[in-house]
Amino acid sequence: MSDLEQTLSIIKPDAVERNLENEIKTIFQKNGFKIKNEKKLKLEKSEAEQFYKVHETKPFYSDLCEYLSSGPVIVMILEKENAVKSNRDLMGATDPSKAEEGTLRKLFGKSIDKNSVHGSDSLENAQKEIDFFFKN
Ligand code: CDP
Ligand code: MG
Repeated sequence: MSDLEQTLSIIKPDAVERNLENEIKTIFQKNGFKIKNEKKLKLEKSEAEQFYKVHETKPFYSDLCEYLSSGPVIVMILEKENAVKSNRDLMGATDPSKAEEGTLRKLFGKSIDKNSVHGSDSLENAQKEIDFFFKN
């Protein structure tokens, strides 16, 4: 048994900058995800800080927010059965050097910080993150 879910995906600045948007979207679609909504935007650092608030005590927080707001990103609502876990599996480990073959981060990630994609880590956070970007 599995349920149709929605999750939030971000194509991060390092990937947008390398024009990987279409290649990454094609991989999502080939893996059964429907892109239900999407937009390209550039975050203010304060918005990145809000988005990544769960990490505010981490040593990498400031650099992470600086980076996420350093250039345009593509934010997408992805829909599929078990979308949250399925997207996490497709993304691979946070550190691209530890990610499995064929995962997005293995294919495209440059480093643990510039790892090309974000994906929600739970259904609850997926809804919060979707609302963050798409609620009015
Ligand atoms: O993105 P994911 O959920 O896999 O990892 P996270 O632990 O929630 O961390 C969020 C983001 O912070 C990562 O995707 C990296 O871009 C960044 N990060 C970092 O720069 N250095 C670390 N040691 C860990 C994470
Ligand atoms: Mg995370």
